[in-house]
Amino acid sequence: MLATSSAYPSKILGVDYNNQLAVLYTLKKQSKRPLTLTEKLLYSHLIVDGGREWDLEKIDRGKTILELRPDRIACHDATATMALLQFISAGLPRVRTPTTVHSDHLIISEKGATEDLQRAASEHAEVYDFLSSASRKYGIGFWKPGSGIIHTVIFENYGMPGGLIIGTDSHTPNAGGLGMLGIGVGGADAVDAMSGMPWELVAPKVIGVNLTGTQTLGATAMATICNMSAEIGSTSCIFPHSPAMGRYLSATKREYVAQAANEVRDVLLTADEGSQEYYDRIIDIDLSTLEPHINGPFTPDLAHPLSQLKTAIAKQDWPIDLSHAMVGSCTNSSYEDLDKCRQLIRQAKAAGTLKFKVPFLLTPGSEQIRATAEADGILGELREAGAIVLSSSCGPCVGSWDRKDVDVKGKEKNSVISSFNRNFIGRHDSNPATHSFVTSPEMVTAFAYSGRLDFNPIIDEVIGSRSSFKFEAPIDQELPRHFESGMDTFQEPPADGSSFSVSVDPKSDRLQLLKPFDKWQPGSANDMEILIKVSGKCTTDHISPAGPWYKYRGHLENISNNMLTTATNAALPNDPQLLGHTRNPLTGEVDVVPEVARQMQKQGVCWCIIGDNNYGEGSSREHAALEPRFLGGTAIIARSFARIHETNLKKQGMLPLTFDDLADYDRIADGDRISLIGVEEGELQPGKCVTMNVNSKDGSTWEARLSHSFHQGQLAWLRAGSALNHIKTITTA
Ligand code: F3S
Repeated sequence: MLATSSAYPSKILGVDYNNQLAVLYTLKKQSKRPLTLTEKLLYSHLIVDGGREWDLEKIDRGKTILELRPDRIACHDATATMALLQFISAGLPRVRTPTTVHSDHLIISEKGATEDLQRAASEHAEVYDFLSSASRKYGIGFWKPGSGIIHTVIFENYGMPGGLIIGTDSHTPNAGGLGMLGIGVGGADAVDAMSGMPWELVAPKVIGVNLTGTQTLGATAMATICNMSAEIGSTSCIFPHSPAMGRYLSATKREYVAQAANEVRDVLLTADEGSQEYYDRIIDIDLSTLEPHINGPFTPDLAHPLSQLKTAIAKQDWPIDLSHAMVGSCTNSSYEDLDKCRQLIRQAKAAGTLKFKVPFLLTPGSEQIRATAEADGILGELREAGAIVLSSSCGPCVGSWDRKDVDVKGKEKNSVISSFNRNFIGRHDSNPATHSFVTSPEMVTAFAYSGRLDFNPIIDEVIGSRSSFKFEAPIDQELPRHFESGMDTFQEPPADGSSFSVSVDPKSDRLQLLKPFDKWQPGSANDMEILIKVSGKCTTDHISPAGPWYKYRGHLENISNNMLTTATNAALPNDPQLLGHTRNPLTGEVDVVPEVARQMQKQGVCWCIIGDNNYGEGSSREHAALEPRFLGGTAIIARSFARIHETNLKKQGMLPLTFDDLADYDRIADGDRISLIGVEEGELQPGKCVTMNVNSKDGSTWEARLSHSFHQGQLAWLRAGSALNHIKTITTA
């Protein structure tokens, strides 16, 4: 074993390299197999105390449940309220793993940073007070509004090669740009780790991506790639250690981290020689042949190489004129990104084209980036070209956007282009008719000078007052000469927070202390009505929409009124007005989904939801699992689930099940009633199928086989009513 000779203890570094190497050494004694980088970082965080023993040869990727101890946890303000409410109800005095809370999602973008931050301070005072006081009491670092977007702040302050961070946000893989394994989880998983419980993860399959054609990627550019991996459903994404990571760490005043990482580079931070044959799959991408893409509308998967966009547009009914151009989000708002925008602005200025043709919104990733870009003149040049600089926060990326230029409520059709990462229906402005396209910051800037979607900045000219010109590709400026710190927006947790108190007003409509869910009731999966059979894409944005609903993230009763309100019902006509509606099986009337759920709950009727492929994809939003449980749901039966959402459902005491024969989804009809056989205590076992009995309206019956992914430990969550109920039982036992 090679030990690190670093002079810095784990508390200062934020990771414990010596412990990681010791765990790896023990594992490697049993098996000489070379390890991929992902395996090294995951397995070196395995919990090895309490009699646990791990055998590398027996870890079956895709099946084995790993019990891990993350180095750090991060929550943003929209998920932290519920996570902290859950932590409070677990009754522990202080978090047992370093944790931070980031105020980035709630700030509504409208007029610009100063006014928007003032508005947030007044509108969200109650929530910020709660987060600040709970953080102080329970030993959590609190990043105040204006600090920046969670993943950017993590990158700048806690990113650590070889570390493991979990975050209550699906873009946590962003940390992979610094060689840190970042994984998005639900709030309930975060609460486990805060409580010092093992954090469980199914050992993921490992895909090797062989990137060629460039040597120029800086740390933040690598972070962009890792961040976007969330959009194709990755658990995480990571780059091996590179000099660029050292340069970034030094530039952000963490030279000592760079030095310590260098010492373990070969043993811990790079894949073992010969590990290539142990990847589940290898993908080769030559970046020098990759054309810029404009993806959308409504999904980042709908990819259009720039040269083919005009052809795609000609066949569609998408609005050609752009209504907004936006640069920002945790994906694309680094110093390097903003500098690229500036380079294009200078090219336009040289041709006499001073102003953007459409409103241009910019969100710097963090206060540090804002202050640096301000000092270097970048923001000044952007403002001169017509940009509005918003606060360093999520803003329109997450629907926190008070939009006035189109009739949002009237569902006015329009197109926007942004450097955000996702563009699901209604995501930015709650308007299902906003056609959103995602691309790089430099493409957004170029399109802002054209104002039209059918523009190709590589071949089309822009007409300036002095000359016509074509944009040249900007040059990568990896780092600024010097990072400015900006304003101090961090609240350090006190060494002892026991004298502080946290209060929640029982009359509040924003915050509500949690009441534990009931234990599993025998018979609750018998003769269930179907609340809704969802057709097609059903992301967590469909299950628990964002935007105006953010307000109620800490109030389960109130936010449950948004459940599935943008989902498509397979049993109703395909009419936008009927999104989020369903037929009440008790009355036959069509109403909004949460109202029908409440009616059934009131009458003591058990119900389930039928889902399509990849149900719950998108984000780690645990409300999407809490709401159906709160409104009395028993099971979600789908063709397949997104990993995080499936775990979240289990954590809240719900039964996620999948059709063994995908065609059985099509056989489910309006008015069917479902009973599940084999789900009661003692019957439901890991790896054992469940039988679904379907009673149709016409009196006929049929059967189908369903699968589940519960392991033995998770079955205790189902029986206890939730994972939190179970944690309480063991911590108080
Ligand atoms: Fe925020 Fe959008 Fe990233 S919501 S965390 S900027 S994906």
